[in-house]
Amino acid sequence: MPDEDGYFGEQVAARYDESSADMFEPAVVEPAVDFLAELARDGRALELGIGTGRIALPLAARGVPVQGIELSKARVARLRA
Ligand SMILES: C[S@@+](CC[C@H](N)C(=O)[O-])C[C@H]1O[C@@H](n2cnc3c(N)ncnc32)[C@H](O)[C@@H]1O
Repeated sequence: MPDEDGYFGEQVAARYDESSADMFEPAVVEPAVDFLAELARDGRALELGIGTGRIALPLAARGVPVQGIELSKARVARLRA
């Protein structure tokens, strides 16, 4: 149900990483980041629904400039944190 945040408000954002902990495991994240870094080469990446930055942050740490679109202000706040 949409709230003042539009969708996926703070309560959902606060639990998302925790409730999806298996998706944040290095064994899941690292192969995806390896694949995307290889795909991007010297280019950039745009993630639609960037969430809390599960993939975008480690991809950026690999030197790929990443931009994202995200509906949830609460999730973007967590990404920035
Ligand atoms: C399943 S989560 C995945 C988040 C992130 N990509 C990841 O892999 O951890 C999907 C994300 O897409 C966002 N989203 C859904 N519909 C959207 C839309 N129309 N525009 C922007 N973001 C959207 C949600 O708020 C949510 O954060």
